Formats: sequence, C-alpha cells, structure tokens
Amino acid sequence: MNTPIVILNYKTYLESSGENALELARALKSASEESGITMVAAPQAADIYRVHDQISLPIFAQHIDPITPGGHTGSNLIETLIEAGINGSLINHSENRMKLADIDEVIQLCKQHNIESCVCTNNIATSKAIATFNPDAVAVEPPELIGSGIPVSQAQPEVVEDSVKGVKSINKKIKVLCGAGISTGEDMKAAMDLGADGVLLASGIVKAENPKKALLDLVSKL
Ligand code: G3P
Repeated sequence: MNTPIVILNYKTYLESSGENALELARALKSASEESGITMVAAPQAADIYRVHDQISLPIFAQHIDPITPGGHTGSNLIETLIEAGINGSLINHSENRMKLADIDEVIQLCKQHNIESCVCTNNIATSKAIATFNPDAVAVEPPELIGSGIPVSQAQPEVVEDSVKGVKSINKKIKVLCGAGISTGEDMKAAMDLGADGVLLASGIVKAENPKKALLDLVSKL
C-alpha cells in the first residue's frame, strides 16, 4: 500500500449494496485518478465479483473466516474471495469482532495468499497487541465514534497519535490508519498530521449526496 491511503468500508448500507456498489466504485476510481491518492473499495462479499468485473480498482473484503476449504456453511473462504477479485481484507471490524487466535490465523492466510491484511482495533492497547502479529496495516477506530459523524482525528487525537507510536515501535513497516466519523478534508488532514498513513471510513462518503465530490473534498487538504 502506498501512502496516503483511503479505504472505503461499504458496510451493509443500501446506498453501497448491489448496483449501488458499482456506482460507488466508479466514484472511488474517478476520485482516485483525479487526486492521485490510492482509494480502496471494501464492498460486501456478494458484491465483490460485480465490482471487480466492471471496474478496475483495489478491492478489500470486509471479513474473511479463519477456515480452509471444506465443510463451513455460510463462511467466507479466502480462496473464493481472491478468485472474486480481492487484493486484501479488513479483519476484526468492531461490528464483526473476532477471537485473537482467529485474527492471527486470518493474517497468516493473507500472507500465504499474498494479499493485504488490515486489522481493525478499538484502542491503543489492542493496536499494539495486534502489531505483534505483523499485519500490513492496523486501523484504529474507537467504537463509540463509529457512524457518529464525530471525527476520531479531532475528538480523540491521542488515540491516533499513540496508536501510531505504539504500532511503529513494534514494526515500522505496519501502516496505521484511523477511522470513525471521518468525512472531510480537515478530518483527514488532522489524521495525517497525527502520523497516520491514511483513513478507513464509511458513512460520511457512502451516504453523501455526491460521493465523488465528498472523496475529493476528503483529500483536498493533503
Ligand atoms: O470501517 C469504517 C468505520 O467503522 C467508520 O465508520 O461511518 O464512522 O466512517 P464511519
């Protein structure tokens, strides 16, 4: 991943599901081309192939299960997701928390399959703990600010700054992103000024009247 990076978590909003997932991917691609900033789409599993088939941009899964091929009804198998078009995955989002051992297993699966791993954490301590597993990226998101419209980079700057310091002291190569309530150019600039390598965001862009405009505003102060 090059810095700065923007990962858009589509979550399960209707505005980012099905055909809307494609529209959002078009907005991401075009904003990325205009700004020169790497922008990654993280659509629902069912929309990954649709997006990959129509639009050329980096795609992350929202979740991968710690399984190998076989009998695991209802699970997300890494091999299938890669064939569908992913280049990486979010792991352990606050809305889909995983056991520590399972997080480690999915990071290892990503390494074996040469795709990127971005582990979500909820505070400074878990960010440091996860860094010892050596994922490609850690994205710190205080759960109480998720979907709130209150930007973590401005409301809790110490969480971003100390997560960056803590993670980099364990492994300098790990990228540190921050998320929760990020939507404007000021929010992203504040995150980068605190040492973050980029942002992980959702509602501010997914629900914007004009997502491409919102994405260009997001990176306008860099
Ligand atoms: O994964 C991104 C996320 O949890 C932040 O959500 O809606 O606060 O940007 P939001």
